[in-house]
Amino acid sequence: MERILIIGCSGQIGSELTLALRKIYGNDNVFATDIKQPPKDILESGPFNTLDVMDYNNLLHFVVRFKITQVYNLAAVLSGNAEKIPQQAWEINMRALMNTLELARDSDAKKLFWPSSIAVFGPTTPRHNTPQLTVMEPNTVYGISKLAGERWGEYYNRRYGVDFRSLRYPGLISYKTEAGGGTTDYAVEIYYEAVRSNSYTCFLSEDTALPMMFMDDAIKATIQLMEANPDKLSLRSSYNVGGMSFTPKEVVEAIRKHQPDFSVSYEPDFRQAIADSWPASIDDSQARADWGLNDVYTLDSMTEVMLQEIRKKLNK
Ligand code: SER
Repeated sequence: MERILIIGCSGQIGSELTLALRKIYGNDNVFATDIKQPPKDILESGPFNTLDVMDYNNLLHFVVRFKITQVYNLAAVLSGNAEKIPQQAWEINMRALMNTLELARDSDAKKLFWPSSIAVFGPTTPRHNTPQLTVMEPNTVYGISKLAGERWGEYYNRRYGVDFRSLRYPGLISYKTEAGGGTTDYAVEIYYEAVRSNSYTCFLSEDTALPMMFMDDAIKATIQLMEANPDKLSLRSSYNVGGMSFTPKEVVEAIRKHQPDFSVSYEPDFRQAIADSWPASIDDSQARADWGLNDVYTLDSMTEVMLQEIRKKLNK
């Protein structure tokens, strides 16, 4: 029987992944943890504990005590925030990963999911339909930590047999928990502001194309990868995941199909340079071939759900 530890259950991914995993594996077998208070539905549906991924001894104690077999380590400082505190962000992102890799070596929690990102690519990477294997010279703290993390994951797999699995997520878009401090987060904020005030000031320029994915597709892909037969996994670093690709201008057009007078202005800030260093679109054929990645949302179908759900949430 699988017993799963979620580190970072209160964040954008964790708040949805925890519930999806509880449905599959049973509420009592999915242990939600974070240093922040989780949403109510996580507290009410199963176990929650405060746990700091930076504290190795506590982590090991927890995993042994609850006989954990799988860990999802979702703790990270995102790209925009990391640029404000480079040393600290490196320390947090790397220590969090190394602790869970060591944990996998020292305990029965051998299976580890850790998110990588399109941020592993840089300005010298081919920007369109970016291949799985290509030039990788990230120039952000976040990207450097994700690339280093992928290398460590593959190393622990080869050297110590840790069942490390990872996806290079594109920008993730969701309505449940707002992300914090990422570069792709304009594509979440824009929907909230469309509902709140029918206007938005975008921190990226209108033609900045980036790869993006709706959270439902991302959760499905994550669980598919974790459930895949290990023999099917030709990669033990991290799989490209492309999702869709769009610009702020295209999101605005999609929102205007529902709110024709939605108004937008553009005031690019320091995150523009980060976005410009990342791919516009991603080739994810290896994930499709190896374990059947199959995302279904388009910009229009996602926009419909985002607006509908945020209206409900904000009582609009
Ligand atoms: N969405 C993340 C960010 O913008 C990228 O992985 O930081």
